[in-house]
Amino acid sequence: MSWIQIKLDTTPDHSESVEDLLLECGALAVTFLDGCDQPLYEPDLGTTPLWNNLRIIGLFTADADMDAVIAHLNETIPGSYQAHRVEIVEDKDWEREWMTHFHPMQFGERLWVCPSWKEVPDANAVNLMLDPGLAFGTGTHPTTALCLKWLDAQDLAGKQVIDYGCGSGILAIGALLLGAEHALGVDTDPQALEASRDNAERNKIASGRLHVCYPKDTPDTMADVMVANILAGPLMSLAETLASHTKPGGKLALSGILSEQAEDVLAAYEPWFEMDPVTEMDGWVRLSGVRRNN
Ligand SMILES: C[S@@+](CC[C@H](N)C(=O)[O-])C[C@H]1O[C@@H](n2cnc3c(N)ncnc32)[C@H](O)[C@@H]1O
Repeated sequence: MSWIQIKLDTTPDHSESVEDLLLECGALAVTFLDGCDQPLYEPDLGTTPLWNNLRIIGLFTADADMDAVIAHLNETIPGSYQAHRVEIVEDKDWEREWMTHFHPMQFGERLWVCPSWKEVPDANAVNLMLDPGLAFGTGTHPTTALCLKWLDAQDLAGKQVIDYGCGSGILAIGALLLGAEHALGVDTDPQALEASRDNAERNKIASGRLHVCYPKDTPDTMADVMVANILAGPLMSLAETLASHTKPGGKLALSGILSEQAEDVLAAYEPWFEMDPVTEMDGWVRLSGVRRNN
C-alpha cells in the first residue's frame, strides 16, 4: 500500500488552523518540522516554541483527493502557506526501516556500542549491546559520544561511578563494562530508570553493580568518577550537588553543553573542580575536571 503526503511551508501563526484543516480533510497524521536550520534548545518550562519557518506534513491514504484538500485550504485559510508539494510515499516495513540506521560504533580505543541485530565487529573489544528505546542514549548523539570517549580513556578498574541523567544507562553500563566496580544511575524520568535496569541486564551486569534512583533518593555517597550529560541550564544548577557526590581527587565529565554555553558552565564548576581544556564535537562540548580538596 502507498500513502500520499502533502508538505506545506508555513509560519507558526498558521500551524493550528492548517493542522485542524488537514485532520478535517482526513489526514492520518500531521507532523511539524523545522522549515530551516533553527534548533530549539532548552525551552522555558510550560512553553512549546515552534520554529519561525515551519514545514507541516499531512499524511493521507493513497486514494485521498489532494486537489480537493488544497482547494479547501486555499478557500478556508487563504495565504496560509508559501509553498506546497504532494508526494507519494511508498510503503516500507517501517518497523525495520529505522533499524538500518543503527550500526556498531567505536568510542575511543576499547569501547563499542552495538545494536543487538548486528554482528559484533570485534569480539575482543568491550562491547556494550544496546538497542534504541524510549530513553535517550544510543551513542549516535555527539553529547553521548563525547562522554563515552572520555570514559574509555579513564582507568575505571574498581571505581565507583555516578551517571547523573542516566537515560538509557549507556554511560553507567559502559563504565561498568570498562571495569568500574559499581555505578549509580540517577534520572528524573521513570522510563530512564527502567531502561537502565533493562540494558544492564541485557549486558549481563551482575545485579548489585548498578543501582538507579531519582535525584531525591541519591544515597549519601561520593564517586571516584562523576559523569553527567544533561543540558547547560540543569548542569549549572546541579554544580554543588555533583560536587558533593564526587570524592576529592575524583574525576568529572559534563556534556550536553553547546560551545557558546561552555564558559558559563565552567564558571559554575570552577569553585569545586580544577577544570581541563574544553573538547568540542559538532558544536557540542565536553567539560572535564578533577575535584579539589574543598
Ligand atoms: C541527554 S540525556 C543523557 C542520557 C545518557 N546519559 C547519555 O549520555 O546518552 C539527559 C537525561 O537527563 C535526565 N535529566 C534531566 N534533568 C535532570 C535532572 N535535573 N536530574 C537528573 N536527571 C535529569 C533526562 O531525563 C535524560 O534522561
